[in-house]
Amino acid sequence: MSAATQLQLSSFARDVAAGFSDPRQKYLSARYFYDDLGSVLFEAITLLPEYGLTRADERLLRLHAGEIASFCTGVSLVAELGSGTGKKTRNILQAVSKSASRLRYSPIDVSAGALACCERELFDAAEIEPVCADWLDGLAEIVHNRVRNSSLLLLFLGSSIGNLDRSCIQDFLRRVRSYLRPGDFFLLGADLMKNTDTMLAAYDDPTGVTAAFNLNMLARINRELDADFDLRAFAHEVRWNSTERRIEMHLLSGREQTAYVGALEASFAFQPGETIWTESSHKFTLCELEDYARASGFTPLKAWADHEWPFAEALWKA
Ligand SMILES: C[S@@+](CC[C@H](N)C(=O)[O-])C[C@H]1O[C@@H](n2cnc3c(N)ncnc32)[C@H](O)[C@@H]1O
Repeated sequence: MSAATQLQLSSFARDVAAGFSDPRQKYLSARYFYDDLGSVLFEAITLLPEYGLTRADERLLRLHAGEIASFCTGVSLVAELGSGTGKKTRNILQAVSKSASRLRYSPIDVSAGALACCERELFDAAEIEPVCADWLDGLAEIVHNRVRNSSLLLLFLGSSIGNLDRSCIQDFLRRVRSYLRPGDFFLLGADLMKNTDTMLAAYDDPTGVTAAFNLNMLARINRELDADFDLRAFAHEVRWNSTERRIEMHLLSGREQTAYVGALEASFAFQPGETIWTESSHKFTLCELEDYARASGFTPLKAWADHEWPFAEALWKA
């Protein structure tokens, strides 16, 4: 096992210990969905008829990549937070490369499997320098090594911003801004508010792919942290929280049970009906995105919205 894996394992174990010991609500960060199996399951989710989000994101990038690139003068480096397989990013790389003599692309992702797919997918679109790291650690590494006199276009697509707690979004965006130089660009893909039933169905498909994605979090704890969770004793649960305007995904314990996590030498008890909160997906309005831009030190340049599936690409300048 590499030193990097050991480091990640121990932070995974620490986060399981903290999240599963919270007496108010057990939780675990959505970043732990994405081992190799979780990344493949996420790709399957993007193909579901109920999950219109990725198709809307892709449509907008395909239709408006040329216009987006026309704003991004002097860009020779594109970086992406949580790139996944990077399929949609081809549209942007092709458009930006028309005015760049040499284009580099740095996808940042915690999933080594997703980054390997991304390299295969986009090897012919730019010089790829993947960074396997957390969003901001990866960004810090990239800006530390960047050359002078060229601008950076940073992408944060797929509404991953919605996975952050609403109270943390502003601070996160300020931190992103602090890594950029004046004249750099930030393209944010964000899912917009829509009909509640449509939003619920997007995270609770009848084929059970999203349920498998959610349950894989426990399977991953079993595999990597030597635990004995009985996956059949937990169910996928999706809620709409209208106060926070977010979809929440939970894993619901079907009975009173205890799971042992070998790596922690600890057991965790679950009551019937008790849940582990695994993901939040906040939904936004166009005005709210503009407010976030200004409050975190960006100038909003333009936003493009999809009308089939309300979703927006917002382009900001640092
Ligand atoms: C919902 S998928 C989106 C993938 C792609 N951007 C898209 O729009 O389809 C989230 C991606 O971000 C990665 N990810 C999640 N949390 C992360 C974190 N804290 N730091 C870096 N990558 C993260 C996951 O591994 C996954 O590939």
